[in-house]
Amino acid sequence: MNERTSTAEIGVIGGSGLYALLDGATEVEVSTPYGAPSDRITVAEVGGRRVAFLPRHGRDHRFPPHKIPYRANLWALRSLGVRQIVAPCAVGGLRPELGPGTFVVPDQLIDRTSGREQTYYDEGAVHVSFADPYCADGRRAVLTAAEGVQAVDGGTMVVVEGPRFSTRAESRWFTSIGGTIVNMTGHPEAVLARELALCYTAIALVTDLDAGVEGDHGVTMEEVFKVFADNTARLRDVLLDAVTRLPRERTCACAQSLDGIKLPIVLP
Ligand code: ADE
Repeated sequence: MNERTSTAEIGVIGGSGLYALLDGATEVEVSTPYGAPSDRITVAEVGGRRVAFLPRHGRDHRFPPHKIPYRANLWALRSLGVRQIVAPCAVGGLRPELGPGTFVVPDQLIDRTSGREQTYYDEGAVHVSFADPYCADGRRAVLTAAEGVQAVDGGTMVVVEGPRFSTRAESRWFTSIGGTIVNMTGHPEAVLARELALCYTAIALVTDLDAGVEGDHGVTMEEVFKVFADNTARLRDVLLDAVTRLPRERTCACAQSLDGIKLPIVLP
């Protein structure tokens, strides 16, 4: 394998039900100071851009949300040259109008996880800005690519620890504090990307109405996986279009998020 075939500028981190994306890809095994990433990374060219794909849960879905090696995943992608990330994920809708099959490109996040490793900086004074957790330019590119599926522009993703789904009371509370969608993997992925000065854009596919909105049976794993599977082809099309629309030169704030900060570690 030559260096060219194993490098990439854009990373896609696939969620539940999206375990492969690229045709004719080269497989790369990457090790990191934080252990192995969720799986081998596949790299290929899409529309003239070098793209790396990593299935967040592993291709056999062996990592539940709270056990995903988030630090290793982001580090591994950066070490291949990746600087912009598009991150699809399955979410529950916290509003009745966001029913199954809706795509949302969130612009805010509320962290309700606990006990996950969520920083690379256990020494020194490294406090990244996170007021806007998602890349403005990445969001624009993904929204343009997702025009055909009428993606919703903006929304607040509540990230719960899982692996259980929320109670009806929790779910109603998430809606009352401004949440629009809920999932289990959006954090710490977003902040770790920011800590490595990577652009990060989430694209959420609503697979269910969460327990506080849904009137009857509550959320089940079967419906989440079924709705995701039913929409994988649409999601794949959006992703393959989105990567070609990302800017070649980064002028967004994400690229400068570590400027002027003395780092206690050397980034790949
Ligand atoms: N992922 C998909 N649907 C979800 C829900 N309702 N709650 C948390 N994570 C989810």
